[in-house]
Amino acid sequence: MSARLQPQPQPQPQPQAQVQPQAQAQTQTQTQTQTQTQTQTQTQTQTQLAAEAAVEAGAQEIAQETAQAIAPTTASATAPATAQPQPHAQLHPRRRAMHTRDVTAVQAIEAAAYRFPWTRGNFVDSLAAGYIAEVLLLDAAVVGYFMAMPGVDELHLLNVTVAPAWQGRGLGPGLLGAVQSHARRLQLARLLLEVRQSNTRAQALYRRLGFAEIGLRPAYYPAPQGREDAIVMGVVVHPAAPGSPDDHGLV
Ligand SMILES: CC(C)(COP(=O)(O)OP(=O)(O)OC[C@H]1O[C@@H](n2cnc3c(N)ncnc32)[C@H](O)[C@@H]1OP(=O)(O)O)[C@@H](O)C(=O)NCCC(=O)NCCS
Repeated sequence: MSARLQPQPQPQPQPQAQVQPQAQAQTQTQTQTQTQTQTQTQTQTQTQLAAEAAVEAGAQEIAQETAQAIAPTTASATAPATAQPQPHAQLHPRRRAMHTRDVTAVQAIEAAAYRFPWTRGNFVDSLAAGYIAEVLLLDAAVVGYFMAMPGVDELHLLNVTVAPAWQGRGLGPGLLGAVQSHARRLQLARLLLEVRQSNTRAQALYRRLGFAEIGLRPAYYPAPQGREDAIVMGVVVHPAAPGSPDDHGLV
């Protein structure tokens, strides 16, 4: 017997009365669930907005402090006296890990120090990628920073910068020392960096700190006229001497 064309018994209609209360109950439950979900979402959004506002407030505060510190030579009335470069004053720099809330202040220094500065996005993406980054502080003001990307057996220094008003005060070597310590801590054998061919001051500093020229990257940087080559410099990172504190003064 083939299965086709056999008339199928018609389903008996359900008595109307029984369906109603059940369906109503289900609808009510669904509505309650929807309301609950909406409330939860609203709360989450409010929490998130509050968190973002707090971060932004933190960022604004750091940016204000920094703006006062990096404003070359202009003595703004509100800046604490110590934030302005006192030519021979003993500096007490401190360092800490860079956070997203520092990016406003960092980018302000970047824009003041470079003709072709990193964007805010470059910093945020690098932090999100887990690169090693620290800010240099004088009082509460950010006056310098570095960003370094760990590789297989080398640490690649992507950015090291001191605010123009604080350059020439010996802060840069301290930052480079901190980068070397991170390479040592990560047991990476070399520290590499690129420097513009025209940046003879930075090249001189790197040589003074033991870096040697190891290569060239043609047309690596944007320049006013076209592109500029990069000199690649590197230094071998020796393991920490046994028992030597590798605590490089992080706060
Ligand atoms: C490069 C840099 C990080 C060095 O840090 P720093 O704190 O200035 O380092 P130092 O104080 O040891 O100065 C290094 C040398 O540059 C000289 N120098 C630095 N800034 C100077 C300035 N504004 N005017 C004149 N000389 C300056 C110092 O006299 C010193 O020279 P010396 O070695 O003959 O004593 C910093 O100058 C900087 O951020 N520059 C702009 C950004 C940059 O070039 N970054 C590196 C890109 S690869």
